[in-house]
Amino acid sequence: MKFLHLDELAELNNGQAQPAQFAVIGNPVAHSLSPQLHQPALDTLKLNCRYVRVEVPEGRVAEAFEKMHQAGILGINVTVPHKLEALEACDTVNRGAQLMGAVNTIVFDTEGQTTGFNTDGPGFVRAIREDFGVDLADLRVAIIGAGGGAGRAIATQCCLEDCPQLVLANRTVSKLDEMRHILDPLLQGDKLEGPGDRLQIYALGDPALAEAVENCELIINTTSIGLKAADPSPLDQALIEPHHLVYDTIYNPAKTRLLKAAESRGARIANGLSLLLHQGALSLEYWTQQDAPIEAMREGLSQI
Ligand code: ATR
Repeated sequence: MKFLHLDELAELNNGQAQPAQFAVIGNPVAHSLSPQLHQPALDTLKLNCRYVRVEVPEGRVAEAFEKMHQAGILGINVTVPHKLEALEACDTVNRGAQLMGAVNTIVFDTEGQTTGFNTDGPGFVRAIREDFGVDLADLRVAIIGAGGGAGRAIATQCCLEDCPQLVLANRTVSKLDEMRHILDPLLQGDKLEGPGDRLQIYALGDPALAEAVENCELIINTTSIGLKAADPSPLDQALIEPHHLVYDTIYNPAKTRLLKAAESRGARIANGLSLLLHQGALSLEYWTQQDAPIEAMREGLSQI
């Protein structure tokens, strides 16, 4: 799929009837689905502009911001591996993004000053409401892979929502020990009725994880296990019960081994397409200050 290099930006909007005003940066960036999501939305809002992919090498994100502002870009999405570098390069970062340690959305002001946001966490709240008809704030939540980028954003959002209980599991448990210092202070109060700490941390494979997961309503996979057809389930499927809501942040394949197992055990399931949709919708709302045309964006994603 088409993309631009950072060094091609100076020419970006020369003589273009429809200027590029929004972009995604990443490395690689060719696979990004953001244009499929955002171009139909920009067209529906009649903003007469394009959304482009720009490949930015690591270490050049601040330079990219400057060049993009000069080329007439108004807002950016940030994808792997630039979410931390983007946070460091922003003039202002909102509180949620700071706590998540990652920025995925940038808004430029007219002087080129940058404000960074993270829409993955808030987008997940909307995704859960859409898929399961419930508020994340009311759920006891288990996150498998909480030490990865998506896992940390969702875990932080659960704390900001004041979820009654949060069970975090990761292969590398030291990553969660680091997160505990940030998350623990967010979960002060006594919202949890019943035994156990509000924030619980486990190594993936710890036998004690079984009971902790059983007590949760929502189980989320944020590991990359499931992207390949041969991948196993990231969680022993015997732990999944009919009362569980099971969300896999992976959307390709649409039904991972985890989701198939959860379905066969009578649990309700959803995949990461709704997160992709709603994090994008929130970015667009930051850029345009208008409600996102969700159905146009959903339709765009259905073309993939
Ligand atoms: P990021 O999201 O930060 O880019 P990633 O390498 O894609 O990171 O990994 C995302 C998550 O999948 C992490 O929680 C990672 O566990 P570690 O923190 O221990 O690396 C998890 N993950 C990836 N492969 C895994 C595997 N084979 N077994 C268990 N967890 C795995």
